[in-house]
Amino acid sequence: MAQQQRIVVVTGGASGIGAACAEVLAQDGWKVVVADINLAQAQQVAQRIGGVAWEIDVASDASVAQAAAGIESEVGPVYGLVNSAGIIQQPLPPHELGMDAFDRVQQIDFRGTYVACREFARAMLARKAGSIVNISSVAGSRSMRLHSYSPAKAAVINMTQCLAAEWGANWVRVNAVAPGYTLTPALEGAIARGERQVDGALANSPLPRLVQPTEIANGVAFLLSDRASAITGINVPIDCGWLSGTTWDMYGGLPHTNQ
Ligand SMILES: NC(=O)c1ccc[n+]([C@@H]2O[C@H](COP(=O)([O-])OP(=O)(O)OC[C@H]3O[C@@H](n4cnc5c(N)ncnc54)[C@H](O)[C@@H]3O)[C@@H](O)[C@H]2O)c1
Repeated sequence: MAQQQRIVVVTGGASGIGAACAEVLAQDGWKVVVADINLAQAQQVAQRIGGVAWEIDVASDASVAQAAAGIESEVGPVYGLVNSAGIIQQPLPPHELGMDAFDRVQQIDFRGTYVACREFARAMLARKAGSIVNISSVAGSRSMRLHSYSPAKAAVINMTQCLAAEWGANWVRVNAVAPGYTLTPALEGAIARGERQVDGALANSPLPRLVQPTEIANGVAFLLSDRASAITGINVPIDCGWLSGTTWDMYGGLPHTNQ
């Protein structure tokens, strides 16, 4: 008898990294629920990959709880969850960054990831089977002028360990992928507004280029799958080596900057 298709929910699946995850996971044989606040765009992605679109606002506890219950009853038992819904922020010093903007980033990027884990894990824990991948960021491991986003992503990395330790006994794995600078509509918009300097990122990257969304999705697909069956609580940077390259300025920079 053919094995039943596993169901995975991808929040933020309508764009960028989430859309790439939806595509790669569909290619890998998952039934993908593209869950996003932008339902029209989620429908386009779902249509392209043969998946299902679902409206969700991770900033609303009620919306996440409704989506989790609705997907379970209308689509089927959810085995996988990818938390890619997120927003970025303007690089501003603290006295210029409004507290509303600060709170919004915390609410979506940190709290929203937590609430989605909490609500979708309920049924996974009951079934004693599940795999979650949170999209963190290299920003969670370095300081930068993103005084809400960077701590929010550090919290996602730590939360991933907390939840992995909590839920391992029920055979639910929780991991994170930390993208480096990845060519998505969010980053392209920030570059166009002059809020990100790509030359600086490339100078610090051992592989001197930006990351493609599919390269993040490939890592997510691995961690989500049974190939990673003994892996839980880790955070995997996929960053063209950026985290390893940021300390070379004392020594004249990375080799490719001197060629
Ligand atoms: N692009 C990068 O360089 C980069 C680097 C590190 C981490 N990340 C992280 O990757 C994730 C995806 O980013 P991206 O670059 O693909 O951005 P994106 O803007 O292309 O996609 C984000 C998606 O999240 C959805 N979304 C936003 N708020 C939501 C909400 N409240 N509820 C449900 N959906 C919501 C958007 O509609 C959009 O479809 C984010 O968590 C981001 O912080 C991105």
